[in-house]
Amino acid sequence: MKIGIVQTHPVFGDIDRNLKKITDLISSQSADLYVLPELCTTGYQFKDRKEALALAESIPEGPSTKKILELAQDTQAFLIAGLAERNGEKVYNSAITVGPDGFIGCYRKAHLFGAEKNCFSPGDTPFPVFDLGSTRVGVMICFDWRFPESMRSLALDGADIVAHPSNLVLPDCPQSMITRCLENGVFAITADRVGAEERIPGQTMKFIGQSQIVDPYGKVLARASQDKEEIIIVEIDPQKARNKAINSNNNLFEDRRVDLYRRG
Ligand code: ACM
Repeated sequence: MKIGIVQTHPVFGDIDRNLKKITDLISSQSADLYVLPELCTTGYQFKDRKEALALAESIPEGPSTKKILELAQDTQAFLIAGLAERNGEKVYNSAITVGPDGFIGCYRKAHLFGAEKNCFSPGDTPFPVFDLGSTRVGVMICFDWRFPESMRSLALDGADIVAHPSNLVLPDCPQSMITRCLENGVFAITADRVGAEERIPGQTMKFIGQSQIVDPYGKVLARASQDKEEIIIVEIDPQKARNKAINSNNNLFEDRRVDLYRRG
């Protein structure tokens, strides 16, 4: 199976241009599954909820989802992409999963980062795992990485691959995802953006790039640059994530001592 990270530099508010860039990048390649960044059509730094609401779209009826669906059909690939979702008067920082046969599902970011709390409502969808036929893909968004329960939930629910649309600003994520993969025995595809936004004076957001693909043993299979738009495709065997044995005596899931762990 060929999986791809698509690292872009969105222009804030220019949805058509950002979608065209995504289409151009993906149409020049061949893969089975692509992961795109968080908020990949709008850009990241909304001034307030009103502005987020104005640029957000309903899912799956909105034009961005339709366009990404078209791209999935044209390329016969699965795509996972971060979008601002409008639902009535609420806005969510969401990610859609679509495939050649249509819309599959939507996840709303659970752990909002910093000023996102001023613009978005916190997610109310459980961490989803979608059966794509040859593999099962879980979805979380950016800052969800900082809470190990996110990826653990996805792994316990059977994800082989964790798709992770991101707009990373903290430097620790690429390294931390290596541990997340090792502790859960899953692949992770973190698709980040590059560039900077300063739409609120004095509050520059600099995005770190370094999109990456990590395997279930914590090996980095690909890592993108810190500052360039790029697409990287890697061939993997997703079945490798189904073996949770550490050695002949230990198993990542079966050896968990849930009786001793603190809940809640
Ligand atoms: C982030 O969650 N976009 C930092």
